[in-house]
Amino acid sequence: MSEWTRVAELTDVSRRRKKLVALGEERVALFYADGDVFAFRDACVHKGKSLARGTVLHGRVVCPGHQWAFDLRTGQADDREECQPRYEVRVADGGVWLRPAALAGSAAVAPAAAAPASVPAAAANSVPASATPPSVPFPASPTAATQE
Ligand code: FES
Repeated sequence: MSEWTRVAELTDVSRRRKKLVALGEERVALFYADGDVFAFRDACVHKGKSLARGTVLHGRVVCPGHQWAFDLRTGQADDREECQPRYEVRVADGGVWLRPAALAGSAAVAPAAAAPASVPAAAANSVPASATPPSVPFPASPTAATQE
């Protein structure tokens, strides 16, 4: 299954800077930094703490559990082998869209030129090169749950 799912409104994520959403059975932490949206599996690869409760700082999210820092673009932990699973993110029609399959490594970061015209230039870096606009019918039903 690889359908795009609208999980949040871009304005909500950009205002809060982070947001916990549900994607099927999975909890996903969304982060907004430098005009881009990033999506990580919410359970930290170290001991499972919620990254949505972490701190976004200098292009990284710092886990509230033991302060491991993960690069928002790659999921790679600073000075460690571990990599936090991520999701492909698209910003279109004012919403944040995810695909169900989690990613690892840096493959999900695509060139800005691949972004659809409706995606703000600053958010384009998180759009995969092979992506096409969402094909799900509108309005999609978000399954988002919020968390502060
Ligand atoms: S649980 Fe995230 S650093 Fe330990």
